[in-house]
Amino acid sequence: MRGLFLTFEGIDGCGKSTQIERAAAFLKEQGIAYIITREPGGSAISEQIRTLLLNPANKGMRPQTEALLYAASRIQHLEEKILPALAEGKVVLCDRFLDSSVAYQGYGRCLGAEYVRNINAYALQHAPQQTFYFRYTPAQAQERRAGRAPADRLEQETLSFFERVCQGYEEIAQQEPQRVTVIEAADSIEAIAAQVRTRLQSYLRRRDL
Ligand code: ADP
Ligand code: TYD
Repeated sequence: MRGLFLTFEGIDGCGKSTQIERAAAFLKEQGIAYIITREPGGSAISEQIRTLLLNPANKGMRPQTEALLYAASRIQHLEEKILPALAEGKVVLCDRFLDSSVAYQGYGRCLGAEYVRNINAYALQHAPQQTFYFRYTPAQAQERRAGRAPADRLEQETLSFFERVCQGYEEIAQQEPQRVTVIEAADSIEAIAAQVRTRLQSYLRRRDL
């Protein structure tokens, strides 16, 4: 049995969760086993690390501490949840993964992509087959997010931080066009769901060969 590992990436509020739900509904209709999970989090220990990372009170957290905590949370999540689901032949729909660390800590926090990839060596061995990157400007995202629950520690960052994060995502998409599908996040929910579905179908067909 071979699973399929799919990740959804982009800045906060770009529409990842909405599309994960749509993709899950499609898989359900097709009778295909799947799990939905997220980073940081996805397992009990990783969810505790998530709480640490997103707590607005932790203003003093150093960039390297932050990067290492995301990496630690990812190892636990892979071992406890992602790899077992893939071994059972399931489709894994994951809200954020390693690309988030490259974009947010590597570019946003200016730690550099190489440093971030080095500390995430384990996750690099388990790269997703397909990543949907939702391209969205920080200003658009802020507008869409208005009225939502109070911002977490990362969401409180400056516009220039998010500009760097976006630049990071663009560079990842350029470097790995086979893995990364760029989605224009300002398109309608329906139009995006159709694009994701088409890509998903082609992967599922290949898996069945
Ligand atoms: P994320 O998971 O990336 O933070 P969400 O999926 O929670 O983003 O979407 C953020 C908000 O934007 C939600 O209120 C959602 O209903 C809305 N939304 C999502 N996708 C679209 C879209 N394509 N067009 C308009 N609104 C959208
Ligand atoms: P979350 O609320 O799950 O994301 P979203 O707002 O997209 O629904 O918050 C996770 C935050 O953590 C988000 O701001 C991105 C950030 N993050 C990193 O900085 N590095 C990482 O490796 C990951 C996985 C997330």
